[in-house]
Order: sequence, then C-alpha cells, then structure tokens
Amino acid sequence: MALSPMRFPDSFLFGVATSAHQVEGFNDNDWSEWERAGKLKDPTARSGRGVEHWTRFESDYQLARDVGAKAFRISLEWSRIEPTRGTFDEQAVGNYRERLLKMKEAGLHPVVTLHHFTHPRWFHGQTPWHSEESVAAFTGYARVCARLLEGLGATVLTFNEPMVLLLGGYLQGVMPPGIADGTLTMRAACNLARAHVAARAELRGVDASTRIGIAQNMLAFAPDRIWHPLDRALTHLAGRNFNHAFLEALVEGELRLFMPGLGSARQPLKDGRGSLDFIGINYYTRAHLKFVPKAPFLEFQYRDPLRRGLTDIGWEEYPEGFGQLLAQLKRYRLPVWVTENGLDDREGRRRPGYLYRHWEQLLHSMAAGLDVRGYLHWALMDNFEWLEGYGPRFGLYRVDFETMERFPTPSSAYFRSIAVGRRLLAPPVQPSAAR
Ligand code: FCB
Repeated sequence: MALSPMRFPDSFLFGVATSAHQVEGFNDNDWSEWERAGKLKDPTARSGRGVEHWTRFESDYQLARDVGAKAFRISLEWSRIEPTRGTFDEQAVGNYRERLLKMKEAGLHPVVTLHHFTHPRWFHGQTPWHSEESVAAFTGYARVCARLLEGLGATVLTFNEPMVLLLGGYLQGVMPPGIADGTLTMRAACNLARAHVAARAELRGVDASTRIGIAQNMLAFAPDRIWHPLDRALTHLAGRNFNHAFLEALVEGELRLFMPGLGSARQPLKDGRGSLDFIGINYYTRAHLKFVPKAPFLEFQYRDPLRRGLTDIGWEEYPEGFGQLLAQLKRYRLPVWVTENGLDDREGRRRPGYLYRHWEQLLHSMAAGLDVRGYLHWALMDNFEWLEGYGPRFGLYRVDFETMERFPTPSSAYFRSIAVGRRLLAPPVQPSAAR
C-alpha cells in the first residue's frame, strides 16, 4: 500500500523524550560533581531539583497523554542503581520498575535508555571508558537493567549519542570525564561499541523479544567556504565519522574511525555484526565546518545562511537536513525511531512551525520507503540542559522553575492535533513567529 505523504500510519507512535539527569532531580553522579566544580558555562549552575520528575512522574505521564503521546522515553540513572561499584540498590531497581509499570498502565509505550551521558561517581576513576574494564562494568549494570525490564516489552537504547559523549568528554573535554586526547578517544570508542554488544546479550538473554538500538545524534554538515577543498574534505569526514561510524560498526561488525591529526581506529567487533534491531536518530541542526591549520583542525559553527533566524540556543533551523539524513539511513535496512527532535524556544511560539517542517520531511522519507516507527519529541517539558543549565526551553510544556508547575505552550495543542488526527496540517499562524 502506498503511503499518503501527508498522513502518519495508524501504527506510528508519537511520544515524548526525557533523560534522568535532566528531569528527575537530586542525582548524585559525575555530572553533578562536574557542576559543583563550576565547570558549566555558568559556573554557578546546578541541576539540583531537576524538574522534580522523580516525584511528579505520574502527572507527567498524564501531561504526555494530554498531548496525544503513546510513547515515553526515559533513561535509567546508573548512579541510582549502582551507587558503589558492584553493589546494586534493589530499592532503586524496584522503583524504576514500578514507574515503568505505571507508564504502561497509562497507555504509554516505554522507550528506555540505559546510558544518557551520566555515570556513577566511581566510574571514571575505576573503570573509565578508555580501559577495558569499562565493558565489564557496563555489562554488570546492563544485567541488572535486563532484570528490571523483563517482560515490559520496552524499546531499549543502550547508549544515547555515543559520538557526543566521545567528542564532548574525550576530545574537547567540555563534559565529564573532561579528557582531551585523541588516542584515549579511540580506545573509549571501541569500548563503548563493545559495551553495546555485551549489554545487548544481557538484555536478550533475559528477554529474547527486546528490541535494542542506540540513539545516534546526526548533524547535517556543510563546508564553511563552499569553494575550499579542505572545508569540503572535513564535511565529508564528519558525515562519515560522526554520523555513521557507530551505526556501521554495529551493523557490519567493525568500528572504523578516521580523524586525521586526532586519531583513528579500525577494530573488528566480536558479535557486533547485526547488533542493532533499529536505529534511533536524534536530529536538531546543521553545522558548518572550517579547516584551521592547528589541532583540532576544524572550527564548528552554527550559521543562518537561509535567514530563518537561529533558535534561541543559537542553532540553525534546517529541516532539509533531517530529510537528507533520514534518506542516508535507508541503506541500513533497519526500522528507525526518531528518538529526539525539538528546539529551544523561549517564547514558545516558534515550535509549531518547526514541528510542521520537520514532520513534513519525516513523512517524505517514509513515503520514499523508510520504515519509521515513531517520533519522540525532545522534550515533554523544559529541563536542565547539559552545558547551558536552565536557560533553554525545549519543552512542549513550559516549566516554572520556582514552583515546578507545568503550563501548556501553543505547541502542546498542535502536537496533540497531529498525534491524534494523523494528517499533517499546518499550524495556525503564530503572529510573532511568522517569518
Ligand atoms: C541532545 C541530548 C538531550 C538534550 C538535547 C537538547 O543532544 O541527547 O539530552 O540535551 O540534545
């Protein structure tokens, strides 16, 4: 049956996304340590209470229902489950299971990430990603997660954005563990890929029907100077390495990374071939790349050549890139989930149009034969944004960070109308967002 380009199939799941450290509140992990050390852009910023999702989770499920969501993405906070190495907190495990059961009762399909950037505080000191012990450490945690998730029918993501973790934590040193070393980056990359494979075996061992993937951040890349051969070469390399190296590794069974001047790796991955059941894509924006003659040899910039106005966090709105990257996923012949997409919109009026333009691309890619199972919006509500703290507002619901009250934005009603109605209709014009 041919898909109508303007209608989402009935089986397609609309949902919302969150991650533990950004919403739960009162986490004690490597990020909260990083915050206390004053290493965020604003050295006084703290995740603190989060947005109290830990205690408000049931009403948050209701808010998700109210926007027509049928799926809800959370992450399990490793530091709650294994606060000291090898000692698992059964209360935390039971608590997460209870929350997921309630999520299902609320009619929401659970999408569960095992690792969304944060680590228990012991991790980097005892079993950092560049050491082989990291794989065993993650596997031990995954074994407990497998038990926690048994029989829930959840869609599972082992890692959120492994390349972002590597770039931010191992190459640029702007997030924990704060390392800037090409050789260690390559080692860590190999161990992350191995950890995915090992975690998958644990999850499958307990429940053979679990569907397992990763959430891959994909950026549309463009040369800063279209005529410059080195900017063009960088664009090509970034597309291959940042967007595809991990996916290729887990589909083909060999990790190949090549970052001239920074490091490279070519590593067969035991049992890695065919270790993704689906691909999760997180898409936000396009980046322009410029060659510079000293390490790391590139400058990375968000620009606005199409004059659409950068989003409030300073990213380009570039839905065309979403379409292009989705088209690139076709070659993997796997189902796809959009595990994140959204924007920082502090006034709340731009989001409906943004959604419309990205959904249009999504529907076109589906009409061209890509098997997309669902779309999870980042985020259900405003939350703590890693390097930026509480400035950005990515939520379908606006949060008053003092009272923690949630308020619908114009995008809540629009999201609902499409999630429920299924036909993609343009949003009502928001006067001040008309461009
Ligand atoms: C993604 C992260 C997510 C959120 C969005 C804005 O890279 O996975 O946690 O911070 O960016």
